[in-house]
Amino acid sequence: MTTHIGANKGDIAPTVLLPGDPLRAQWIAENFFENPVRYNTVRNMFGFTGTYKGNPVSAQGTGMGVPSLSIYVTELFKDFDVQTAIRVGTCGAVGPLKLRDVVIAMSASTDSGTNRRATGGLDYSPTANYELLEAAVSAARSRNISHHVGGIATMDLFYDDSNALDILESLGVYAVEMETTGLYTIAAKYRRRALTICTVSDLIRTHEVTSAEERETGFKAMVEVALDAAFA
Ligand code: HPA
Repeated sequence: MTTHIGANKGDIAPTVLLPGDPLRAQWIAENFFENPVRYNTVRNMFGFTGTYKGNPVSAQGTGMGVPSLSIYVTELFKDFDVQTAIRVGTCGAVGPLKLRDVVIAMSASTDSGTNRRATGGLDYSPTANYELLEAAVSAARSRNISHHVGGIATMDLFYDDSNALDILESLGVYAVEMETTGLYTIAAKYRRRALTICTVSDLIRTHEVTSAEERETGFKAMVEVALDAAFA
């Protein structure tokens, strides 16, 4: 038991998928896992463990934003010995990206102050685990899924009136979400493997958004890529 995860050691698999939405964790468990069991209901931040093609695997909701995700991934790494964590989420996009594209995040720039707390003010570059990244790219390619591999940005504000996005786009950062920089930095601290895969749910310049059905289809493709990469 930890403060936020009401499970026993051993209830959570060494490999965990991390959607922001706890109901997505349930959806992943119901649609992809054999024999899923719910191990956490604290704050309704559901977590499930089952197997995928015989491999033990869990799905844990993280909530939105770096502060919420940081609580769950710290407890997963520190107290539950999780070795591999793959965020499966949605992102907003600019530049050449299209709705429903899968983005595989090499790095996560940020305007969040959390990493500087870990580095004493130094600008650390939170980076994906290369093994997982390579396996995810290979899975997306072989499944013929339209994908983009590059740096993303983890932003503190969903509703942001600043010109941050213009600056990021000028540096080739085309996708924004709200969690990955925390995941990559905490994984580095505990020497664990981490990757973020996200599907483009909205085009920020044109305000185009995916329908609920498209989000579900896109989410399915992304989970398949994540599971292929996890057990490659
Ligand atoms: N901004 C930040 N996070 C997001 C977005 C966005 O437009 N879409 C999905 N997650």
